[in-house]
Amino acid sequence: MTGFDDVFGRSPEAVWQAPGRVNIIGEHTDYNEGFVLPIAVPLCIRASVAHRPDNVLRLASAQMPGPPVHTDLSALRPGALRDWPAYPAGVVWALRERTLPVAGVDLHITGDVPAGAGMSSSAAVACAVAAALNDLWDLGLSRTELVAVAQQAESDFVGMPCGSLDQSASLLAEEGHALFLDTRTLAARHIPFDLPAHGLSLLVADTKAPHRLVDGAYARRRASCEQAARTLGVRALRDLTVADLGTALGQLDAVTARRTRHVVTENARVLDAAALLETGTDPRRLGPLLTASHWSLRDDYEVTVPELDTAVDAALAAGAHGARMFGAGFGGSVLALVDAADRNRTATAIVAAATAAGHPRPTTFEVAAAPGARRMSIHPVR
Ligand code: GLA
Repeated sequence: MTGFDDVFGRSPEAVWQAPGRVNIIGEHTDYNEGFVLPIAVPLCIRASVAHRPDNVLRLASAQMPGPPVHTDLSALRPGALRDWPAYPAGVVWALRERTLPVAGVDLHITGDVPAGAGMSSSAAVACAVAAALNDLWDLGLSRTELVAVAQQAESDFVGMPCGSLDQSASLLAEEGHALFLDTRTLAARHIPFDLPAHGLSLLVADTKAPHRLVDGAYARRRASCEQAARTLGVRALRDLTVADLGTALGQLDAVTARRTRHVVTENARVLDAAALLETGTDPRRLGPLLTASHWSLRDDYEVTVPELDTAVDAALAAGAHGARMFGAGFGGSVLALVDAADRNRTATAIVAAATAAGHPRPTTFEVAAAPGARRMSIHPVR
């Protein structure tokens, strides 16, 4: 049972679940056509769908009780819906924009990806819905095409000008592997990522910091990167290497230069991290790359907040091999790479540091690389 039956009084015809993600490294690189290295996590959004004989879309969410939101498909246009219904509706809109034969549908969402924790709960909604509707109408879209649909829903319909990191992780990731993705070509490699086999643990701390200014600040960061690329005469900042920075930064104002330096050095760190994992090096060696990423996001990209910095500092002081914020920033979560034996001690240190600083009490948990979106079996109504 997914809750669909209770709301709509019949069984769903297709059920798909799509996971949230933790980005190991490669932050604010995706909209610069750069590199990312996320894993999917074992927290998922489940979308259950069934055809309707008309052109009406009905949307229900287990996390948002109340009668279903409904709209006629002809009324779907960017900005038409707000909050959570905008994500599933945006997917329906994006499919119809491709002139695919998508008509009326009842749709129910449930799941356990925490909202506001920077683990991409909204992308997981869009991905679960895109995969479920692809199945329901037998549209034949590949996973890569579903990434584009879910991303378009979020950027063009909801109005958050995101890259493709979150949707790629949710739809393309494989269990036990990190996803190395070139966001320009969408070429992907699945790199074994089995930390427990090395006596390691990936600890996540959700700082519970309220997301501040995230949409506007995100769009400004993106605009600044695009401006830098234009000034420097490249298609995207991905086209610069660390060796180019010496001459490139002098042509930019101080703020744009810092933003550019973050993106260029972060791309180099992703390549280093992927190479390290692919050559079978001890994953503890990822640690310094993770911490350097955090410092760059703090000092050059300026997307951290005190809650994130406090959590990272506390993890490092407790002996973590490396730690960083992940996701857009301005709130959300940090990850820490720790010896498995130190996991509880590190978690306690992060909570104690937050409390001492007068910040909200973080929640901490361990994550491992989980599978990407998959079809679920449908249980008939009894
Ligand atoms: C958000 C966006 C992603 C990506 C990250 C930062 O999660 O949705 O596309 O830009 O921020 O790396």
